[in-house]
Amino acid sequence: MSEVVVARTVAESRSERSEIIFPSDANALGNLFGGRLMQYIDLVGAMAASRHARAITVTASMDHLDFVAPVRVGDLLILKASVNRAYRTSMEVGVKAMVEDVRHNRMRHVSSAYLTYVAVEKDGTRIVVPQVIPETEHQKRRYEDAGRRREMRAGETQRKKEIRAALGDEWHI
Ligand SMILES: CC(C)(COP(=O)(O)OP(=O)(O)OC[C@H]1O[C@@H](n2cnc3c(N)ncnc32)[C@H](O)[C@@H]1OP(=O)(O)O)[C@@H](O)C(=O)NCCC(=O)NCCS
Repeated sequence: MSEVVVARTVAESRSERSEIIFPSDANALGNLFGGRLMQYIDLVGAMAASRHARAITVTASMDHLDFVAPVRVGDLLILKASVNRAYRTSMEVGVKAMVEDVRHNRMRHVSSAYLTYVAVEKDGTRIVVPQVIPETEHQKRRYEDAGRRREMRAGETQRKKEIRAALGDEWHI
């Protein structure tokens, strides 16, 4: 495992992505399909994580995800991601999704999520990631909150290990 010793600010990896929603992205009600929104959230989160780690990252988990308000066909969707905190090989990234009302120059929050990414080499070996330097009051609060979420997630990580141990690496029918 290659050791990376530097730390990076949140601003260095902050990422944003914008999408116009097309009919091909919609469910039967004409709203953005939830799975597509999850894909967008994962993509922008991976951008921030990979920029922070300067490495390939894989999604280890996505925490509870709320669809606060529907996104409609024709909406301009804005997704913003930043690394809240880094550990040894993993990082918690917060993603916020908003719809921009271009006519009135205002934003509406539609969804948010916390995701954990792990930095890896091409062969899957984990990479040690730089720590996060929180600068603003907001970033410091998110950094502290991320620590509490990691403690709550520990049980889930353990459960995943137990499932893997029970199933092994073999294929199952
Ligand atoms: C994510 C993955 C690399 C973790 O592998 P693992 O053997 O459980 O790894 P380890 O126990 O060595 O843990 C590595 C890090 O991941 C974190 N982690 C593992 N599972 C996690 C989970 N479910 N949620 C949050 N963090 C998790 C650990 O806390 C650890 O963090 P740290 O090094 O910063 O302390 C592995 O499960 C994997 O490759 N999963 C598939 C990833 C993927 O393909 N994603 C795309 C979805 S199709």
